[in-house]
Amino acid sequence: MPDIQQDLKVIAEKVNTYLKCYLQKQSSDSKLYEAVNYGLFSGGKMIRSYLVHSACKIFDVQEKEYIPIAAAVECIHSYSLIHDDLPAMDNDDFRRGKKSTHKAYGEFTAILAGNSLLTLAFEIISNPNFYISNEKKIKIIHALSSCAGHLGIAGGQFYDLSLKNEKVNKDNIIGMQNKKTGALMGFCVETSAILADKKDLEEKFKSTGVKLGLLFQITDDFLDKYGNADILGKPVQQDVVKGKNTLIDYLGEEETKKLMKKLQIEIEQNLKSLPKTNSLLNCMNFIIDRKN
Ligand code: IPE
Ligand code: IPE
Ligand code: MG
Ligand code: MG
Ligand code: MG
Repeated sequence: MPDIQQDLKVIAEKVNTYLKCYLQKQSSDSKLYEAVNYGLFSGGKMIRSYLVHSACKIFDVQEKEYIPIAAAVECIHSYSLIHDDLPAMDNDDFRRGKKSTHKAYGEFTAILAGNSLLTLAFEIISNPNFYISNEKKIKIIHALSSCAGHLGIAGGQFYDLSLKNEKVNKDNIIGMQNKKTGALMGFCVETSAILADKKDLEEKFKSTGVKLGLLFQITDDFLDKYGNADILGKPVQQDVVKGKNTLIDYLGEEETKKLMKKLQIEIEQNLKSLPKTNSLLNCMNFIIDRKN
């Protein structure tokens, strides 16, 4: 498998530079501004940015068209992690090898930092200086906002937490994971078709991204079970302790691995007739084999 780490670093750097410039212009001496920066620039993998980049490669979309979108996605992702770690949710004290945002800045500041990052995403895309057409902006804002709300991350997180220790079935777990993790990754892939004016491919790309998201969450659940907290930068063996519903627990490891193989084949099938899919396929392999 080609090592995508180097490529990933390059994209991460570009997206972080964009975000740093953007936030520097809003510089303030408040602790909330500090917490926003702390939660955002804390050394995440930036895999979602890489997904946007890889999908855009298929259509030769230019970097200046998609870097702001990747930046917006990272804002939403970081918001979701800040809130995910709160005492009312997973109650985790460490994230990305550092104190969780609420541990570093207190709970109300962390909640507000999360809110600020969620809205910052839409501020970035709707910014008049981002030069893609207004028609595309509206389409992108519509797609991104719907995957953050009750049918997306918020909805998935709601089921993740409210179904703790409840009896659920396979479809309930997949539905929950598709929402909490799949929806945003679905957008990352779909957005390339929107930017490239490939209307007929939007749905297929979205569903390919959702499948990648499900694979990503299953790997996250495996890493929770067997991973190393120092490498992951977050606590491990928490899902069982917290009564979380995972496919590994429900189906067993062997069946879960079979499901992963099935998803992998479906993703390859979806991308089969397209050119320049190497980067996206390498990204899929990274998602499956990653150690952090
Ligand atoms: C963690 O996402 C949350 C899940 C959806 C499982 P990442 O593993 O992408 O987190 P960072 O951004 O690299 O810290
Ligand atoms: C979180 O899932 C998914 C989000 C959308 C934030 P987890 O709760 O499993 O993520 P980690 O393991 O804390 O990163
Ligand atoms: Mg969680
Ligand atoms: Mg968590
Ligand atoms: Mg987890």
